[in-house]
Amino acid sequence: MRMGLVRYRVGVRQIESPLLVEEGQSILDAAFAAGHDFPCGCQSGNCGACKSLLLEGEVELDAYSESALTDEERAAGRILACRATPKEDCRIAWLAADEVAAHPQRNLTTRVDALEPLTHDIRLLRLRLGQGAPFFFSAGQYARLGFEGLPARDFSMANQPGAELLEFHLRVVPGGTVSALIGNGLLAVGDRVAVSGPHGISFLREAHRGPILALAGGSGLAPILCIVERALSLGRTQPIHLYLGVRDEHDVYLEDRLATLAARHPNLKIAIVLSQPTAPTGRRTGPLAQVLAEDFTALDGAKAYLAGPPAMVETCRAVLLDLGLDGEHCHADAFFTAVDRPGARAA
Ligand SMILES: Cc1cc2nc3c(=O)[nH]c(=O)nc-3n(C[C@H](O)[C@H](O)[C@H](O)COP(=O)(O)OP(=O)(O)OC[C@H]3O[C@@H](n4cnc5c(N)ncnc54)[C@H](O)[C@@H]3O)c2cc1C
Ligand code: FES
Repeated sequence: MRMGLVRYRVGVRQIESPLLVEEGQSILDAAFAAGHDFPCGCQSGNCGACKSLLLEGEVELDAYSESALTDEERAAGRILACRATPKEDCRIAWLAADEVAAHPQRNLTTRVDALEPLTHDIRLLRLRLGQGAPFFFSAGQYARLGFEGLPARDFSMANQPGAELLEFHLRVVPGGTVSALIGNGLLAVGDRVAVSGPHGISFLREAHRGPILALAGGSGLAPILCIVERALSLGRTQPIHLYLGVRDEHDVYLEDRLATLAARHPNLKIAIVLSQPTAPTGRRTGPLAQVLAEDFTALDGAKAYLAGPPAMVETCRAVLLDLGLDGEHCHADAFFTAVDRPGARAA
C-alpha cells in the first residue's frame, strides 16, 4: 500500500474530531490509528460491516466484493471505509445497524405454484421454494427472476420475509419480453424459475419510529405492502400513510386486503388515488405527487418508501424533498424498463 505525507481531513459524523488520513491510507486504518472505534469485520472489502455514507468529497475504492457493496449502493453514495482512500477532504457517516441489509446472496431454483390475475395487466406469481426455503430478505427488497430462455428481470417480493412461498406482482408491459410469457399464459404451474438475491437498498428501517409514508405506483404495491405489513407485524404504532396511485378504477387491486389491514391497525391510513379516471369517482384523483403536496405540510421525523414507475417515483420524491424530507430518509425503488424511464408518464 502506497503511503504519503499528504493528509486529508475526513469528518466522520460519529467521531468528534476529523481524522487525518494519509495518501493511500484507508479511512478505517486512519480511524484505528487515531484510537477510534469504527464498525468493521473482515477489513478486506468482503463483509460490508464498515459500510458508510459519503456525504461530501471523493474517495477511491480498492477492490471489494459485490456482496459487500452492490453497484446500486455505490451509486447511492455508499462506500466501504476499509477500502476507501480519500482523494480530497471528505465527510462520511457509518451506517446504523438497520441501514445494512445483510442477507446471504442465494441462487435458487423454484417452481411456479400459481399465476393469477390481480388486474387486467398485473399477475400474482407464487413461487415454491422447496428445498431452498426459507428465503430471507428485508421487506422492500427484490430478486432477479430467470425464466427459461429469457433475459433475467427484477421483481420485488410481496410476501413476508422467511415465508415458504415467494409472491410477486408482475405487470404485463406491452411489447415486453418477460411480459409476453406472463401475459400470454405461456408460464405454467410447475415451470422452473431461477431466483437470485436479495437485492436493493429501499427496505424497511425497522428501528425507525417516526411516521412512515409508503407510496406505491401500480405493481409497486408489492414491496410497499411487504414493508407496511412487516412494520405492522412488528407491532409498530407510528402513523403509516399508504398511498396507491394508479391510472383508473380497473387498475386498483388488493383493496379488500388493504381495508382489512386498516380496520385492524388504526395507525394505518390508506388512500387510493386515480390519476386518469375515465368515469366519475368518489376516490381521490390527480397525480400522486400533487395529492401528497395537498396532504402534508411537514414531514418531521418521517421516512418515505417509494416503488413503481420511475416518473411517479421521481415526481413524488421531489415533492417530499420540497416538504423538507432529507434525501437520506427517502428510500426509492424505481421499476425501470426500456420505456419507463425518468420523464415518462406517471401512474
Ligand atoms: C429494482 C426493480 C424492481 C422491479 N420490481 C417490479 C415488480 O415488483 N413488479 C413489476 O411489474 N415490475 C417490476 N420491475 C420491472 C421489471 O423488472 C421489468 O422491467 C418489467 O417487467 C418489464 O420486463 P419485460 O421483459 O416484460 O419488458 P422488456 O423486454 O424489458 O421491455 C420493456 C418495455 O420496453 C419496450 N422496449 C423493449 N425494447 C425496446 C426498444 N429497443 N426500444 C423501445 N422500447 C423497447 C418494450 O416494448 C416494453 O414496453 C422492477 C424493476 C426494477 C429495476
Ligand atoms: S470491514 Fe468488511 S467490508 Fe470493510
